[in-house]
Amino acid sequence: MYQINENYQKLPGSYLFSTIAKKVKAFSEKNPDANIISLGIGDVTQPLAPAIIEAMHKAVDEMANAETFRGYAPDLGYDFLRNAIVKNDYEARGCDIAADEIFVSDGAKSDSGNIQEIFSLENRIAVCDPVYPVYVDSNVMAGRCGDYNLDTQTWSNVIYMPCVKENDFVPEFPKEAPDMIYLCLPNNPTGTTIKKSQLQEWVNYANKVGAVIIYDAAYEAYISESDVAHSIYECEGAKTCAIELKSFSKNAGFTGVRLGYTVVPKELKCGDVSLHDMWARRHGTKFNGAPYIIQRAGEAVYSDAGKAQVKEQVGNYMKNAALIKEGLKDAGYEVFGGVNSPYIWLKTPQNMKSWDFFDYLLENANVVGTPGSGFGPSGEGYFRLTAFGSYENSVAAIERIKKL
Ligand code: MLT
Repeated sequence: MYQINENYQKLPGSYLFSTIAKKVKAFSEKNPDANIISLGIGDVTQPLAPAIIEAMHKAVDEMANAETFRGYAPDLGYDFLRNAIVKNDYEARGCDIAADEIFVSDGAKSDSGNIQEIFSLENRIAVCDPVYPVYVDSNVMAGRCGDYNLDTQTWSNVIYMPCVKENDFVPEFPKEAPDMIYLCLPNNPTGTTIKKSQLQEWVNYANKVGAVIIYDAAYEAYISESDVAHSIYECEGAKTCAIELKSFSKNAGFTGVRLGYTVVPKELKCGDVSLHDMWARRHGTKFNGAPYIIQRAGEAVYSDAGKAQVKEQVGNYMKNAALIKEGLKDAGYEVFGGVNSPYIWLKTPQNMKSWDFFDYLLENANVVGTPGSGFGPSGEGYFRLTAFGSYENSVAAIERIKKL
């Protein structure tokens, strides 16, 4: 008789955004006339930029012709895309990253869930609390997190680094040395970030204690302040301790077409073993490459026209972020984030529980957000709104919230 991976049985509830989708569906079935505005999941709403669409059309035509048709993509990514990434995302920032250290994938969510596979089950992970749920859930599935405590909503073998108002949402070095440290900066969900000098301290710490940093830079395009690093490799010594995850979803609207990449420097070694070689082996075995059409679309993000167009889109979302943040402040809320990130993090009024505020907002304003406690116990009493809606919807949502 076969047995299942019992670790899955330990996971409480369903994936956060699936739970929210179910709740919203039930509400709208009961209230078919409600005009629901979703500022919940961080999904983009602006269409793919013209330069990207043009590149996709061209690539589609190539696929229709025997001379230019492409089958399996190289498993680690086409050179044209890897070279464009290196030139624009690394060389331009003074980071010495080679094209063969870039592993093109179908998105940062997959990479952030899969990367743990190349590490021992004995490793202890440290996460910010609140945190993007994929980091913890994927480690639970692998069997690295111990047992779940329903009361504290924590896993026995996970080191939590609370990020709350009292510490400006900046994680502090844990008391016990972790083996793997997940950092997402600018942060999802709190929308806050740290300065480059603070990131440098994390790099120094990881190198000192022998930990690896899994650095999720999915929201890098939203950085507006000059003292914030766009890549962890801007910090000295990062190549010996950090893996960086990047996404095309948030900067260029690829949520529906899927593209991302992971950087694993060749200098990153555990003893004599190269993590770069391990990830190449894993990627080669389990992944057949992101589609040619999508990689050409990714290349177009770095064209002159593409860069200008995606910059404008990011600017539009940041206009929403400012509008939401100011609107909430006017309405008397305590608000964080939204300056280097498309997420606005607010304290719930009258210490309402996060899920209670979710229901309150859905029922009374028909606005969907994300309960802070869904991201971890320290998110309790907080709530996340995204700036990825349309401008009109962001305005309407704030008007409705102000009337509550
Ligand atoms: C979020 O809303 O936190 C993210 O959009 C989810 C994701 O990127 O997978």
